[in-house]
Formats: sequence, structure tokens, C-alpha cells
Amino acid sequence: MTVRVFDDLSDLGRFAASHVVEAILARPDAVIGLATGSTPLPLYHAWAEAVALRGIDVSRVRGFALDEYADIDAGHPESYHSVVDREVVQLLGLTPSLVAVPSVLATAAEASAYEAAIAAAGGVDVQILGIGRNGHFAFNEPGSALDSRTRRVSLAPETIADNARFFPSEADVPTEAITQGLGTIMEARKLVIVAIGESKAQAVAAAIEGPVTTEMPASIAQLHPNAVFVLDTAAASLL
Ligand code: GLP
Repeated sequence: MTVRVFDDLSDLGRFAASHVVEAILARPDAVIGLATGSTPLPLYHAWAEAVALRGIDVSRVRGFALDEYADIDAGHPESYHSVVDREVVQLLGLTPSLVAVPSVLATAAEASAYEAAIAAAGGVDVQILGIGRNGHFAFNEPGSALDSRTRRVSLAPETIADNARFFPSEADVPTEAITQGLGTIMEARKLVIVAIGESKAQAVAAAIEGPVTTEMPASIAQLHPNAVFVLDTAAASLL
């Protein structure tokens, strides 16, 4: 496990994006695991900057999002279908048909179809991840099994409160989701885990220095052979 700390968010974004860019330069149809939330934005902006400056062809890049709200209208501006389309596909000029987001239906059949699609693509080369304040990876809340697969889950109260900023009120935040499992995430060949801000410092310290436990889902990264934590100074302040 590697840990890199940056004072400057543009530098952080460029370093985090370099792992994605390298994978695409090695293989133009690389499979990139996409995360939503505010944290990956500096990475996506630096990735877009590299694409523009270096003329990188991203038309064959394949993407799989980590998660989606259950039963939200896929066209809702805050559905992860919309967020991934706006903040990743359009920003970078990816080919929309090559980028998948788990189904809002969140059924067991949709979950296993998603797993099958990732496997058929040959697995994920680089998985981008943020961390929830409670240590979640994607929507794997504390208590998620370390070998869990894509499935429907209930959101923790902290997650609903944190995500309320994207909706008119906390009551409008979906209470369930579909998420890749921790076992699914661990099969990616590389994990790029980004955390920004003091509100993440406790989870970051527990994930990196604490025991590997289902109570701190991000601690599973300690068991990954090729994981890099990319932190700003504030997120790293309790290390
Ligand atoms: C959301 C997402 C996660 C994300 C996390 C952190 O609930 N499902 O994939 O990593 O919360 O979000 P943010 O980066 O906005 O702090």
C-alpha cells in the first residue's frame, strides 16, 4: 500500500489521474472503475487536462461506476447515471455506450448482470475510490462483508445526511442503493483511493493504520496488492 500526501489539490488530481492515464496509454480500451462524489473531481479534471494536452484517445475506454441509488429516476439530475454522464463521460468525451452504471432497479438479477459485465470486460484495471466519513467504499456501509458482491443495500444515516446536500432535503435522499461489493472492488488490478478534507481524517487513519474490519470497509485496501491512497494534508492529518 502506498500513501501520498499533497498540499495542493491540482497536484493531487494530477498524481491520482496519472494512474488512469498510464492504464489508457498501455491499453486504449482500459477498464476504469468510476466513483462519484466531490472527491474524485480533481482527478477527473486532471485526466481531462491530460487528454486535451497530450491528445490521448479515450474513445475506447470502458467504465463501470461503483454504485447507484435504488429506485431513483435514472434521469434525475442526482442519479449516478446523470452524475457519471455529466462529470465523467461528457467532461472527458468518453463513448457513452462503453460506460455502465448499476441499474436503478437494484434487483438481484441486475446485480448479477453487472458482475457478469465487469467479468466479460476482463475486470477493472484501475478503480477510483472515495471514502465516506464512516469509512464506506462505494455504498458498502460499516458491517458489509469483506467478500460481498454487487447487491442492494440500505444507506447508513450518516451517508443519507452527507448526501442531503445534493437533494432539496434529507427526506428526498434515497434510502437504498445498489453497490459493487467489497469483494468486487478488491478484484480491480489497482485501487486509487482519494480523500480530501479534515472530515475524512478519522476514516483515513483507521483505514490505513487500524485493523482490517467490516466496521471500517476502507480498511480492506490494506489487503490489496496494488493500492495507493492519495490524500490532501487535511485528510492525512491524523496519520
Ligand atoms: C458517496 C458515494 C461514495 C463516495 C462517498 C464520498 O455516498 N457513494 O462512492 O466515495 O460518498 O463522497 P464525497 O467524495 O462527496 O465525500
